[in-house]
Amino acid sequence: MKLTRTLTAMAMASMMVISLAACGGGADQKGGATEAATEAATQAAAGAEAAAPGGGNIGVCIYKFDDAFMTTYRNALQEILEGKGYTVTFMDGKNDQAEQNNQINNFIAQEVDALIINPVMTSAADQIIATVKEAGIPTVLINREPTAEQMAAYDKLVYVGCDARQSGTMQGELILDTPNKGDINGDGKVSYIMIQGDPENVDAQYRTEFSVKALTDAGMEVEELDLQRGDWDRNKGQEIAQNDLAKFGDEIEVIFCNNDDMAIGALQAIQAANRKVNEDIYLVGVDALDAALNEVVNGNMTGTVLNDAKGQAAGAVEAMEALLGGKTYASGEQSIYVDYVKVTPENAADFQ
Ligand code: BGC
Repeated sequence: MKLTRTLTAMAMASMMVISLAACGGGADQKGGATEAATEAATQAAAGAEAAAPGGGNIGVCIYKFDDAFMTTYRNALQEILEGKGYTVTFMDGKNDQAEQNNQINNFIAQEVDALIINPVMTSAADQIIATVKEAGIPTVLINREPTAEQMAAYDKLVYVGCDARQSGTMQGELILDTPNKGDINGDGKVSYIMIQGDPENVDAQYRTEFSVKALTDAGMEVEELDLQRGDWDRNKGQEIAQNDLAKFGDEIEVIFCNNDDMAIGALQAIQAANRKVNEDIYLVGVDALDAALNEVVNGNMTGTVLNDAKGQAAGAVEAMEALLGGKTYASGEQSIYVDYVKVTPENAADFQ
């Protein structure tokens, strides 16, 4: 039986509790998040009694299981969904959009009550959205954000994630907060290498742009020694850093990594090259993976940025329940954001 048909009006109202903070925007794509959050908060304040809906079948598609951050996220989703009594099936897209399309079609054939999808490719969003719309399945997209225009095609669709510009800006701020603002050799410019995630992913694009922009906005001169895609992967991060350290040596003052897994790889290369983080080189990542938090505490990473997997998982489930309760989302109000948090040695323990 479809879960949606079993819900009372009271339960529906109570499921719209969304406690996510909308964060700073700028581009059209981000518009409406604040209103959506405010509306949700108002509904929460209306005092609907808590209800544990549960009992539905949920299909979750992850772009690939072999991703450090998405593993944390997947575990959080599983805990929350199962804790609420849902039956959940997770599928590994193996970084292959065709494979994920099959998985979505299979879930539809099984008549799942709702889908949570972490697309393999954002460029496939149109096709994914058309498919779930035709099947009439309430869907929450996570982690890889389509455009507002793409999402407008289906009003039972929501994106829950973060504004990646915020994380990039925070990475730049972590460097600006160092005693020499990243200019270790005092030559008047910050010389860096950028280890990028998969450039198809908006998180990679924005983090790359906004980390450097924070420096230039603060009046720092910058020099990009190298920019390479590391596809969010630790081994690739290690290889890129190793090659660049051999090529540019002491010229490198900062290594920006779009995520922590690549930063951990870069740290291995830094240590192998006998360089010392926070003394002769700075290193920043994003995610606040446990391994990175340890390195921040130990002084082997300058800092990282919390990419709140638990918060996003909770937000995704709340949005899913709102959809199951019959809520539809107007165009421009389909993105719900969770804030990033800057992580330094001073506050790292709070996230461990
Ligand atoms: C995370 C990365 C992860 C990627 C997957 C990003 O938000 O920071 O660690 O690999 O999402 O899409």
